[in-house]
Amino acid sequence: MCGIVAYIGNRQAYPILIKGLHRLEYRGYDSAGVALIEEEDINIYKTKGKVADLEHYAESKNTQGTIGIAHTRWATHGEPNDVNAHPHYSENDSLAIIHNGIIENYALLKQALEAEGYTFKSDTDTEVLVQLIEYIKETNRCQLFEAVQSALKQVVGAYAIAVIEKGNKNEIIAARKSSPMVIGIGDDEYFIASDVTPIIEYTDKVVYLNDEEIVQIRRHEPLKIVNFQNEETKVDVQKLNMNITQLEKGGYDHFMLKEINEQPRTIVDCIRGRINQSATDVKLSGVIDHKEKFLNARRIIIIACGTSWHAGLIGKHMIEEFCQIPVCVEYASEFRYSHPVINSDDVVIAISQSGETADTLAAVELAKSKGAFIYGICNVIGSSIPRATHSGTYIHVGPEIGVASTKAFTGQVTVLCMLAMAIAKEKNSIDHQRYLSVLKSLYSLPNLLQEVLKLDSQIKNMSLIFTYAHNFLYLGRGYNYPLALEGALKLKEISYIHAEGYPAAEMKHGPIALIDNEMPTVVIATNDSVYEKTISNIQEIKARGGKVIALVTKGDQIVSSMADYSLEIPPVDECLAPVVSSIPLQLFAYYIAINKGRDVDQPRNLAKSVTVE
Ligand code: AGP
Ligand code: GLU
Repeated sequence: MCGIVAYIGNRQAYPILIKGLHRLEYRGYDSAGVALIEEEDINIYKTKGKVADLEHYAESKNTQGTIGIAHTRWATHGEPNDVNAHPHYSENDSLAIIHNGIIENYALLKQALEAEGYTFKSDTDTEVLVQLIEYIKETNRCQLFEAVQSALKQVVGAYAIAVIEKGNKNEIIAARKSSPMVIGIGDDEYFIASDVTPIIEYTDKVVYLNDEEIVQIRRHEPLKIVNFQNEETKVDVQKLNMNITQLEKGGYDHFMLKEINEQPRTIVDCIRGRINQSATDVKLSGVIDHKEKFLNARRIIIIACGTSWHAGLIGKHMIEEFCQIPVCVEYASEFRYSHPVINSDDVVIAISQSGETADTLAAVELAKSKGAFIYGICNVIGSSIPRATHSGTYIHVGPEIGVASTKAFTGQVTVLCMLAMAIAKEKNSIDHQRYLSVLKSLYSLPNLLQEVLKLDSQIKNMSLIFTYAHNFLYLGRGYNYPLALEGALKLKEISYIHAEGYPAAEMKHGPIALIDNEMPTVVIATNDSVYEKTISNIQEIKARGGKVIALVTKGDQIVSSMADYSLEIPPVDECLAPVVSSIPLQLFAYYIAINKGRDVDQPRNLAKSVTVE
């Protein structure tokens, strides 16, 4: 988690760092801080709260300096307060560090340093690292670069760090292991950040640091990157293809609302070049290039977390229905510790918006070490998961800033559908008419999403009635069961209302006990192969006095007459119905959260990119 940003060059660093922190704030937002070198001294300003609080706090301070490091935190060790906020000084205030990640063996290292007389101000694991670097530097009388290198050899854990040194305004040392870091190369200046968003305004030339690499960034000098074995590695400069308007709110009150509304366009970007104009063919180069892997796969294992896991569940239905390959969908965090049996003829699909989720990345590495073929479905270009996989498909939905995932979900399901179609075509496992009908639905998705967005004001009004409910149940069957899970997740993460998603028919095995007139149930009851069955489930709720909000296919009369409120969805192939139906559920969660005065883009306790295990 957390966002780090650093600058060295000819401009004043502070405004660049603050702007960068604002762009990275979605990654963590419980405290923020900045360290700048002016003349010989390091000045650190940090405070609990958001980046705006830091700006306020630093208003009257000396923020001069052309070199600096900054951080927005998502606490793992020690509560979010001023002292635990980064940057952290070393014992003699000679060094300052920012850190994203966890130092797992911090307690042992701390004990050893305490025995050497070191004292600690914060509860963080990070402070231990900066003390260790100072200790090594002083005992070995070496340069900062060597001290960082040697300290990291003793560290177990995940980190992206940047360190500066008092009296040295010409150098930043940075390193990474299992946490993201990218360096922007400007005109006689360098930017360091957790992702490219703070950088794109200044340069389109970037270098993605690899795991276990340390970089020496010196004023007026080229970058020097070495790995942990002290071998110099090639500086691979890449060109960015993103513009700054993609990062702004574009007139919407919140990123989440902007991202919900963007979906007709993001799906165009997602299918562009992959489905031909007559919607008769699908081409995914990642599949074509590794056709044999998919055709010979004994099974497919999908690994992901959160919303991406929900998309994976829909992908399972599609791949099993159209490709007849058995699929299991695992939480990445469980997969790693469940002694998974992985064979070389397994294909593992890792789904991740950020491409940085620590559990998913670790599961990828595990499956790779067992010889499986790994395919990534990610959004953030150049992030760690796509770089760790053998092949993959980007969803191309553009930067998703709101913590609640919306457009990434629809992009993921769309890619999974194209993937299933591409494999099924190669395998000849799908009836041609069905293939054409799914492709047609894929092609028409942007228009259908545009249409379903018109429900906005109806949903906004309806949200007023349900804002004060304490619990919600979301039900769906078949393709719509994962969507019930996703709808419930959206509601709970941004409104803090307890919500549970269930397969509709499972309700009678327990949750039905919860139904009364205070417990609203959202039922996804679009016209599909399990429609009749879902109707029976709605009857069961109504018979117990429950309130039902139903998502129905346009023109539906049966469910609409039973439900208390219904939202009409345009007809679409049943495998893609979750894409269309997700939009009203996203809007419903959004408006309820707004009515409750929640911070929709940065809900409490969450962060966009979970780079800790
Ligand atoms: C979604 O709304 C969540 N905030 C969260 O569950 C997210 O989907 C999960 O952390 C996985 O992230 P990833 O797709 O970036 O790997
Ligand atoms: N583990 C560090 C802390 O708790 C860094 C957390 C982060 O990545 O924000 O301060």
